Amino acid sequence: MAAGHRFGGDWTDLKLDALRKYLSFFTTALRNKGFELYYIDAFAGSGGRLIDRVIDNEPFLLGVEAKLEQVYVPGSARIALQTSPPFQQIILIERHSRRYAALEALCAEYPDIRARTQRGEANAALIDICRTTPWLRPHRGSSGIRAVLFLDPYGMNVEFTTLQEIAATQATDVWYLFPLSGLYRQAARSGEKLTPEKRASITRILGTPDWEDAFYGRKERADDLFASFGDEENRAKLRRVADVRMIENYVKTRLKDIFPHVSEPRTLTMKNGAPLFSLFFAVSSPNPKAIALAKKVADHILTIGISSQVRPRK
Ligand SMILES: C[S@@+](CC[C@H](N)C(=O)[O-])C[C@H]1O[C@@H](n2cnc3c(N)ncnc32)[C@H](O)[C@@H]1O
Repeated sequence: MAAGHRFGGDWTDLKLDALRKYLSFFTTALRNKGFELYYIDAFAGSGGRLIDRVIDNEPFLLGVEAKLEQVYVPGSARIALQTSPPFQQIILIERHSRRYAALEALCAEYPDIRARTQRGEANAALIDICRTTPWLRPHRGSSGIRAVLFLDPYGMNVEFTTLQEIAATQATDVWYLFPLSGLYRQAARSGEKLTPEKRASITRILGTPDWEDAFYGRKERADDLFASFGDEENRAKLRRVADVRMIENYVKTRLKDIFPHVSEPRTLTMKNGAPLFSLFFAVSSPNPKAIALAKKVADHILTIGISSQVRPRK
């Protein structure tokens, strides 16, 4: 078994449940359609993770600590390798050396699956894959390639220019765990805390500097010359007017600018209800039939498909 690393929370179960369900739908629905089917994991991790599970069945007693055991649960890469019917090509990208080594060991467990690991930075690797893969041309006896791409970064790592390259393939369905809390933390409530570095990082992930107008209400204050964004002192006086919901909606609008279809995201929260991630599904194919089918399945998964069947946490 490949070594796991620790990460995530309840949202991890939800995202992986969504992915598992979609992958199995995808390879089943497209199995006899003449395409070569790819799975690309741009932030693949190690293939699994370690979680603490309560093993003591005794009723909880005040002051008595629950007994825990460490168990390994499959991550996205293993889920993809286990998908049935199988993918014809799996590509796993990871930049962390130990996790990368674990991925290599993981692939060796599945000698019948054509799997390729790629060590490096996800954006650069993805752009290269998008540009060099013959998506819409006959390839190895197929009439073209169709892919599912999973974008599961820890933070604000996916550049908008990378998403544009993915959309241009016209052959990739994308599951994107968008770092909503990362974004609203960077877009500080007080304009004073909005440093040039934070602004640059938000612009990289959203692909436009226009978010500043939308989040800080510049348009509403257009008549207020003192609120000019050219003036650092006055910018510091600004307050973010966009709440989390408006920010999530803005992200969706940006994705819709480049993908023919984007589903309503599922907001994944912490135990206390604080929004953490938005799970987006986007389709890059312009084909209305392909969109309709993918949308139907993904919307089902995003609404009711992952609410009730998540492995309960004790
Ligand atoms: C949330 S974990 C992925 C978990 C994995 N999808 C799973 O379900 O098991 C994010 C991974 O992305 C890797 N990573 C972070 N930034 C990266 C980058 N720019 N390029 C490639 N890998 C990156 C981290 O080392 C980490 O293993």
